[in-house]
Amino acid sequence: LSEENQSILTAYEWLTKLYHHLLRFTKDGKEGFNYFKQRGISEETIDLFQLGFAPNDTSFTAEFLKKKGFHEQVLVKAGLLSLQNDNNITDRFRGRVMFPIRNHLGKTIAFGGRIISNGEPKYLNSSESELFQKGKLLYNFDLAKKHIRNAGEAVLFEGYMDVISAFQAGVKNAIATLGTSLTLNQAKLLKRYVDTVTICYDGDNAGIEATFKASSILKETGCKVKVARLKDGMDPDDYINAYGTESFQNDVIKASETYISFYMRYIKRSYNLSLEDDRFNYIDTILKELAMIDNSIEREYYLGELSKEFDISVDSLKEEMRFYRKDKV
Ligand code: UTP
Ligand code: MN
Ligand code: MN
Ligand code: MN
Ligand code: MN
Repeated sequence: LSEENQSILTAYEWLTKLYHHLLRFTKDGKEGFNYFKQRGISEETIDLFQLGFAPNDTSFTAEFLKKKGFHEQVLVKAGLLSLQNDNNITDRFRGRVMFPIRNHLGKTIAFGGRIISNGEPKYLNSSESELFQKGKLLYNFDLAKKHIRNAGEAVLFEGYMDVISAFQAGVKNAIATLGTSLTLNQAKLLKRYVDTVTICYDGDNAGIEATFKASSILKETGCKVKVARLKDGMDPDDYINAYGTESFQNDVIKASETYISFYMRYIKRSYNLSLEDDRFNYIDTILKELAMIDNSIEREYYLGELSKEFDISVDSLKEEMRFYRKDKV
């Protein structure tokens, strides 16, 4: 590690402690503490994730770190201070609750900061640096790793709050991407530890689209994909707060559907099945996907479902599908 990067790591370590201390034990950080409390996050969880608070001040962080002997230029590079148009340097995170983003060794290499009241942007991350590349990192991987190994499975979320809520609710193999879609790099990292990834994204339209994208990438690496569904556009954190821990474990995570069930529902949205043409095209698209399934019992099961839905014999469907299976070695 270069001297500069070493210094950046040390700055992040100081700030993780400082922000956490402010939130936990001071009047200045009380609003941050109350914010998490009100969202159902326990003190134990606040401590485990080292959640913190950055005061609404333009130079609080800069002053603190300068007193410790850090150079401003380095802190700008670290994504902690912002260089303004007039060449003024100010704190990047002001009046936000802070989520330390840890690398796989548990060291803070960036922050995500959430605004407490309404405002834009809702979440702000440290800018990318040599040490922090969003597309290469999975949030909470360090804490989740042993649970991921034990379960042979990981649960992938959209947001920090979802991971933290899920972890608190006992789903400890929880990870998330950092406000971007899943990259091949992240999928490959996961594949080293698991056979199966359960995607538990937000139940809104954006979440469903992102689920389709992420599942394609995961399948590319050879991961088996399952999809946990959330109703009414809720996100996992909303769900846990509304229906509780047990319902989340049993009715969402354990009840997750197979990739192919998700795919059938997802694809259906782009067809108008009252039109004959669309019906045939839909069936054809599904057969193509079913042809990729290696397990013959699984294939047969979904052929049965299609057969029932469209009143076509399983034999005819199978014959058509056989055509697509020829592509397979
Ligand atoms: P969401 O808007 O779903 O966030 O974005 P959330 O986690 O449910 O947030 P809460 O519950 O309102 O606190 C999902 C993720 O996308 C990234 C963040 O990583 C967030 O966790 N994001 C979102 C940003 O980076 N910037 C934004 O302005 C919004
Ligand atoms: Mn603590
Ligand atoms: Mn969302
Ligand atoms: Mn969300
Ligand atoms: Mn949310």
